[in-house]
Amino acid sequence: MDFTGKVALVTGAGNGIGRAASLGFAKRGAKLVVVDRDAAAGEATAGIVRQQGGEALFVAADVTQSADVQAYVKAALDTFGAIDCFHNNAGIEGAVTPTAEYDEAMFDAVMGVNVKGVFLGLRHVLPVMLKQQRGAIVNTASVAGLVGTPGMPAYVASKHAVLGLTKVAAGEVARAGVRVNAVCPGPIDTRMIHALEGMMSPSDPAAAGQRYQNSIPIGRYGTAEEVANVVLFLCSDLAGNVTGAQYVVDGGRTATPGAATTAMAR
Ligand SMILES: NC(=O)c1ccc[n+]([C@@H]2O[C@H](COP(=O)([O-])OP(=O)(O)OC[C@H]3O[C@@H](n4cnc5c(N)ncnc54)[C@H](O)[C@@H]3O)[C@@H](O)[C@H]2O)c1
Repeated sequence: MDFTGKVALVTGAGNGIGRAASLGFAKRGAKLVVVDRDAAAGEATAGIVRQQGGEALFVAADVTQSADVQAYVKAALDTFGAIDCFHNNAGIEGAVTPTAEYDEAMFDAVMGVNVKGVFLGLRHVLPVMLKQQRGAIVNTASVAGLVGTPGMPAYVASKHAVLGLTKVAAGEVARAGVRVNAVCPGPIDTRMIHALEGMMSPSDPAAAGQRYQNSIPIGRYGTAEEVANVVLFLCSDLAGNVTGAQYVVDGGRTATPGAATTAMAR
């Protein structure tokens, strides 16, 4: 996988999966546009890329705001002249609360980042790629886009929606040389999974996390780098015939329904 001379734009790039994807792209030669609403985290990712000899531009943006999304697209074009790879990745988990009690404002917040943010990214990056007649997009969905998790109505609905957006866009732009895919991570060792451990089992999050990991066939959480590797593959020329697809990176979790979803609550 060689991205020499290519421009990669990653949202939610200040932490976790987005940071790992940014560093992976940069290591393989890409110039990076690092986007996050957390300026300190985003600057830190860009700083690591530069320390490692790469080129990176940080753009502070809230992906739910159309003006911010248009600004990160413009900054990428003004600085690097193209967007070859787009990892549409920023997302939030919301609360862990049954649907019958779920807070309406929280529902809107989760849908705002995870669905509208992904839509706005597609809305403003696709015209660039259509003009270029080339490009590859990977939306970060989740195994929560494939199966339900009790207590996470907004998150599960939002990730199902990401897969819908992926399929629609893929069909629209395939003839123009633009590919759109989704990655569906299972539980990955980032801030987000530890926040969920705390919400699902406030009295002993570490023990809940251990039980959860034991319930995954591979016996552990995935790493952000393991997800990033699949994102890079989907953005690379090796995946030239792959579009509209959803790639599961979950250590076998969704292959064994039932065991993992309830383990953390026990
Ligand atoms: N960690 C997991 O277990 C897991 C599993 C499946 C899917 N995912 C998905 O992977 C993606 C990345 O999650 P992560 O685990 O790296 O989490 P994370 O919290 O470590 O990183 C998310 C990043 O997105 C940024 N962000 C959040 N809202 C934003 C907004 N409105 N505008 C701009 N940036 C924003 C945050 O500042 C943060 O840097 C998310 O879409 C998440 O839903 C994570």
